[in-house]
Amino acid sequence: MIYMTGNELRKKFLQFFADKNHLVLQSAPLIPENDPTLLLVGAGMAPFKPFFTGKMNPPHPRISTSQKCVRTGDIENVGRTARHHTFFEMLGNFSFGDYFKKEAIAWAWEFITEHLEMPVDKLWVTIHTGDDEAFAIWTQDIKVPADRIIRMEDNFWEIGPGPCGPCSEIYFDLGEERGCGNADCAVGCDCDRYLEIWNLVFTQYDRDEAGNYTPLAKKNIDTGAGLERIASVLQLKPSNFETDLLFPLIAYAAKIANVEYGHSNKIDVSLKVIADHIRSMTVMIADGVLPSNEGRGYVLRRILRRAVRHARLLGIERMFLVEMVDVVVEIFAEAYPDLGEKEAYIKKVIQLEEERFQTTLVQGMELLTKHIQALKETGVKILDGATVFKLYDTFGFPWELTLEIVEEHGMELDKQAFDIAMKEQRERARAGRQANEEQVIIPDLSHLDTAQLSINEEGHDANVVLLWKNGVIVNEVHDGEDIGIILDVTAFHAEGGGQVGDNGFIEGALGKIEITAVKKLLNGTVYHLGHVIEGSLKVSDAVALKVDLRRRRDIARNHTATHLLHAALKEVLGSHVNQAGSFVNPDRLRFDFSHFSQVTVEELAAVEKIVNRAALENISVDIIETSQDKAKEMGALALFGEKYGESVRVVSVGDVSIELCGGSHIRNTAEIGLVKIVSEAGIGSGIRRIEAVTGTGAVEYINARENLLLNAATLLKARPEEIITRVDSVISKVKELEQELAALTAKQAHVEVQELLAKAQEVNQVQVVVGQVSSADMDGLRTVADLVRDHLKCGVVALGSVNADKVNFVVMATKEAVAKGIHAGNIVKVVAKIAGGGGGGRPDMAQAGGKQPEKIAEALQAAVEVISNQVQ
Ligand code: ALA
Repeated sequence: MIYMTGNELRKKFLQFFADKNHLVLQSAPLIPENDPTLLLVGAGMAPFKPFFTGKMNPPHPRISTSQKCVRTGDIENVGRTARHHTFFEMLGNFSFGDYFKKEAIAWAWEFITEHLEMPVDKLWVTIHTGDDEAFAIWTQDIKVPADRIIRMEDNFWEIGPGPCGPCSEIYFDLGEERGCGNADCAVGCDCDRYLEIWNLVFTQYDRDEAGNYTPLAKKNIDTGAGLERIASVLQLKPSNFETDLLFPLIAYAAKIANVEYGHSNKIDVSLKVIADHIRSMTVMIADGVLPSNEGRGYVLRRILRRAVRHARLLGIERMFLVEMVDVVVEIFAEAYPDLGEKEAYIKKVIQLEEERFQTTLVQGMELLTKHIQALKETGVKILDGATVFKLYDTFGFPWELTLEIVEEHGMELDKQAFDIAMKEQRERARAGRQANEEQVIIPDLSHLDTAQLSINEEGHDANVVLLWKNGVIVNEVHDGEDIGIILDVTAFHAEGGGQVGDNGFIEGALGKIEITAVKKLLNGTVYHLGHVIEGSLKVSDAVALKVDLRRRRDIARNHTATHLLHAALKEVLGSHVNQAGSFVNPDRLRFDFSHFSQVTVEELAAVEKIVNRAALENISVDIIETSQDKAKEMGALALFGEKYGESVRVVSVGDVSIELCGGSHIRNTAEIGLVKIVSEAGIGSGIRRIEAVTGTGAVEYINARENLLLNAATLLKARPEEIITRVDSVISKVKELEQELAALTAKQAHVEVQELLAKAQEVNQVQVVVGQVSSADMDGLRTVADLVRDHLKCGVVALGSVNADKVNFVVMATKEAVAKGIHAGNIVKVVAKIAGGGGGGRPDMAQAGGKQPEKIAEALQAAVEVISNQVQ
């Protein structure tokens, strides 16, 4: 075997594949480009996904790289095993529809056995259970003995959605003394004896989010060989950590902790954690990750804080990470020269984050130790969610760090309760953010020198002049905070004149703020409200301004359309129309105006037509600053409720409209696209309101309308253009059916009347008709009772019917029967009560309802009794 440094090995690998006609590329950054499925690049193939799937053409069908990778799935194993890392480098050779298994296997073997001179008798091979093709290549071409090849069911490589396939690995046997000693210890055992040094993936499938595997049009090769692992073999080191790629970091940490490596497992674990984590954080920061509480920023924060905690375990109490960056930069000087260029920046980010954690670490640890002690005393083994949350929220302990600490004491934590507390906090934060925008507490800014502030809506750069949070001026703001910010020159358009402000981002070298509202103080000072989404920012920082321009254009479209609408309304309805308020946002415009009668459909159509004509006529929009007098001379309309200084801003659209206005506008009416009025209504005496959409909003509105039409057409089983005829005929059909139903009901009622009369009984010369009928509602019931009564001379009729879960009763009596003592109201009262209801009425007619339909027979039976009693 040839001894090689990490740098030599990396170079040798890339040269070997360059000689095999591969294009050697630089490692891609750790932040994946255009790949939302991935937080950080975790494999050599990740940047090439579109080449494997055929979505993009590779610059060359064969590529080779040494790729920076971060994986945090096994973070708790880092330092405990010989081979786990968060950051590592993956050597890879890739074929995009070019060579396949035969060449990939042969070259892997050639490199390992001839160029690295690894002894063949130490090597083992695995293949996917069903991969006879790979088996044949290994045994026949490479001449690996069959008993050195192991078939494994799980030899299938994938990382989330994307290209994947069966794989074949090469293992190096580090010797019995490195094994677990179990009788069944073999390739695939979790112990350190057999080290996987090479993985050949035969990329043949594309896995989607739902877990479906689609065969790829072309077969590919994706190789992954861990640089640190191979280096450990070549350098005859017991683990990756003793190689020249990591050991200088261990040595440095041991020196500042004043401990020795290799005597205590506990100390070694902490030293290894620090060595691994400082590499990760350095490279992550160099590639643009900033600490935050979400996504990859959280990964960085977690790694950094974990390293600080392990340093504490070693007794390092001072800030130490920054100086270790020097060691990382030195190790990587050859492979990643950009680290050296970014060194100062990397150190700054680390310093700020380390400082923040150092200030709370001691108190947090105190709290946690106290809780763990209390748990031990009571025998409880679960740390409550509220404490985990407090450690997270107040002391900055990533929950995973807390978990690790409690696990070291043989305990767990209540993750579910923590999640609930987190969710509640997010909701509080969201509400707080809203409040921050609605009722901003602005600090006293009277000392602010406004002469140094300016506006340049086309600008991109600025400096931070002032920061505040919770109404208090501060020098520095951090991720997770809701803040106010004033810049020396802003590109953000502030809310005003009924128009919402711009949104976007303000980005400093060390932090990023999402701007959600932009407003103006009375003296014209523009301030921005937002949320620090990652990192931190302080006064005097240089920042880049990233206004959401698409949103601004949508706002501008709606604003210019508002001016056109104003002019068109004057033209159609008369010069009495005046603006009484307006609201313009990216989605729609609202315009209130004075007008004393309804706007007819025709008038509205005419207004819309005029505005759309202006849009089609490609009229340029001109904005000038001038004196009030000059503006008046030009015929500018003054806007509602605005106060103007000497100089005013005049917005004119050809000779169609001219208004004083401070808002955002498009350059040409054609940018409006289409205007669609969506509603018109009166909102108070003499004031009417129009709402309209333009551009994308209009397209969306029309699409939604069209969908309604299509859905209606589908329901009616007609083409959209047949809808009106079809609806007409459906209405006629319904009318016809209603008439038919009425006739049938009448007929049915007649039959029921006959049946009831046939069952009439006589009690003391009073004819008594009692029964249940089918007419469900009260009206129907009354009709039947009427008909029955008409057939009686001296008689009483008591009917009931069931209507869903209710029951109705009607009792009617003829005059003669009333004279004989019958009282319909009293009868119905008794009857309804039995069926869980109540009611009453006159002696000749009464009705009632009940809630127990199942009691209807019993209730009607009672009617007969009451009637008998009344005529005794
Ligand atoms: N993509 C394969 C791996 O990461 C080579 O192991």
